[in-house]
Amino acid sequence: MLISTRAKTPAELPLNGAGLKLSCYLISPVLYRILGAMKRISETILVTGGAGFIGANFILNWMKTGPRAKTGSVVNLDLLTYAGNAANLASLAGDNRYTFVRGDICDAELVGSLLKKYRPRAIVHFAAESHVDRSITSPQKFVSTNVLGTFTLLELARVYCAVLDESDREAFRFLHVSTDEVYGSLRPRDAAFSEETPYAPNSPYAASKAGSDHLARAYFHTFKLPVVTTNCSNNYGPFQFPEKLIPLTILNALEGKPLPVYGDGKNVRDWLFVEDHCAAIRAVLERGRPGQTYNIGGNSERANIDVVTQICDLLDEMRPLESGGSRRRLITFVEDRPGHDRRYAIDARKIRRELGWKPAETFEHGLGKTVRWYLDNSEWVNSVRTGAYRDWIEKNYGERGTLKTNQVARSGKGKA
Ligand code: NAD
Ligand code: TYD
Repeated sequence: MLISTRAKTPAELPLNGAGLKLSCYLISPVLYRILGAMKRISETILVTGGAGFIGANFILNWMKTGPRAKTGSVVNLDLLTYAGNAANLASLAGDNRYTFVRGDICDAELVGSLLKKYRPRAIVHFAAESHVDRSITSPQKFVSTNVLGTFTLLELARVYCAVLDESDREAFRFLHVSTDEVYGSLRPRDAAFSEETPYAPNSPYAASKAGSDHLARAYFHTFKLPVVTTNCSNNYGPFQFPEKLIPLTILNALEGKPLPVYGDGKNVRDWLFVEDHCAAIRAVLERGRPGQTYNIGGNSERANIDVVTQICDLLDEMRPLESGGSRRRLITFVEDRPGHDRRYAIDARKIRRELGWKPAETFEHGLGKTVRWYLDNSEWVNSVRTGAYRDWIEKNYGERGTLKTNQVARSGKGKA
């Protein structure tokens, strides 16, 4: 089912007026009356941002393997920004448990009407502006979607919960999906981020996610809204938009284009296969304790240069070059990202101990599956690389100075 609404875009909610406008609307007695007329919660979950990379994987997994696969319906609220693609969920066409609504999480009226209509037992909140490089060139959207959008959802959820029966209120969950980037940057020997690590966001993206995390925490503390927050490391896998390191590298390498590595390539990220993240979110939704945060990670710290060389080698194996050479020669070190965090690492012992979750996939196996997926889905790739995508690539890389090329290719097949 497809519902299209004319969403109020963030541009229509000027930053300095939006808070006042929203709160006037949200606390209005009319809204209480509308929501108050509701009966009990249903088995439906309301997912935001479900047409993006992780949200789409989550919905596909949920419909296949979720504990309530047979009964639970999903309503997907997504604005379909450049990063959203309704076709990611094309395999659900005709499944009457799935409803797609095109709209903005900042649109309080729309969110209120969805809560009223579907009476979800949970909101699983993925929608966000998610790319650090874009947050450096255009930060305002990150504040409107990530901070004000999350605020809007929390406010409506608060009103919704306030009128539920006690048992339904206890059963309801607001699951806020966040990132490890809120914790800032680690030095090589620092302990991994735990749930107690102080927040120190460094990019506008991380700061906007940190702001939304703080609001989520405050809504639990002040209003007893049953919020659970997850902070996850870098994901990779099918359907990731090719502005992020792994899909960008796969596609550029296939086309013989330069593989841009920022700075010295020694920045470290902890990588998690997206299906493992989805399984963790399901566990938190079912068994996570309200008011708690859970760190989720793959226990797979890798330097960027090692990830890029590994992709070159996988492609050389799966689709050898006619010339017989290595794609490592395409590696190009480029000017660094401003404020580039050096290292992220996750201590995921809490979610393992409390909820029994741990990653099922190794990085090497998951990366092989991911490369294979991009090879097998060229139609999807072509559909997302529109003119707007090409404009972004030109903007991000066109003016970035080249530092050096081929360093890794010259060093041979060993680890760079
Ligand atoms: P994505 O950029 O691929 O998808 C974001 C989705 O949100 C898109 O479908 C987009 O259309 C939608 N959206 C954006 N603004 C919206 C708005 N105002 N209203 C409604 N929908 C809107 O992002 P992703 O990589 O799938 O990340 C999902 C969530 O997980 C984000 O909150 C992100 O911060 C978090 N996260 C991502 C990673 C990662 O490695 N990708 C890691 C940890 C946490
Ligand atoms: P990215 O996929 O953008 O995720 P995040 O910034 O959220 O960690 O980047 C992963 C790492 O790869 C990060 O250290 C920046 C680096 N990177 C490059 O070296 N080259 C690129 O072209 C991109 C997009 C990222």
